[in-house]
Amino acid sequence: MYVLGLSGSPRRHANSESLLDEVLLGAAAAGAETEKLIASRFRKLLPCVNCGHCLKTGRCIVDDEMQEVYPKLEAADALVVASPIYFMNVSAFLKILIDRCQCYWSRKYVLKEPLFPDDPGRIRKGLFLATSGHDKPVVFKGARMTVKSMFDVLEVEYFDEYFAVSIENPGDVWKMPGAAETVHALGGRLVRALQEGRQ
Ligand SMILES: Cc1cc2nc3c(=O)[nH]c(=O)nc-3n(C[C@H](O)[C@H](O)[C@H](O)COP(=O)(O)O)c2cc1C
Repeated sequence: MYVLGLSGSPRRHANSESLLDEVLLGAAAAGAETEKLIASRFRKLLPCVNCGHCLKTGRCIVDDEMQEVYPKLEAADALVVASPIYFMNVSAFLKILIDRCQCYWSRKYVLKEPLFPDDPGRIRKGLFLATSGHDKPVVFKGARMTVKSMFDVLEVEYFDEYFAVSIENPGDVWKMPGAAETVHALGGRLVRALQEGRQ
């Protein structure tokens, strides 16, 4: 069981990444192998330019750091995406990575190729974690739709989400009563759901 975390915050070890860490700890405690990628570390990652190559091949031709990310996205049994809300969506670092998943859209909807030809019934699940400065949960609406559409092209079921409002300074998220316990348990629940789905 391989759980891949994607962190969208450019602030290392701040709020959304801390939530992700706790989910990954919960997943590891339930027996999963975990890995975390920091989107802001991919300094050479180019945005999708709609070159059209993937419409014909289902693969992205742009030779940059994304070529190391694609195999991980495909290998993951579960994806955990964590982001601060920036102008009502995920951070730009994460959005670039998500847009580069357009090749999976081409594969699925244009070329009608299965993502996992050797394992057509493969079950994958995903979580979305986010923190916002505002105090109204409506701010997560746009980001949730973006992450859901990423999960859709990657054939990942949107398993659950955890959102924290009124979070500004690093560490704020841990002032929320029960936050650490809740997200730790979420990581365990994710792995157990996958294990049960496989039986
Ligand atoms: C560029 C930028 C845009 C932001 N846009 C929003 C927004 O649209 N809505 C909101 O509630 N908070 C917004 N915020 C606040 C962050 O979402 C909030 O501080 C978040 O908890 C930071 O997460 P982090 O600690 O993981 O970096 C924005 C912050 C920045 C720096």
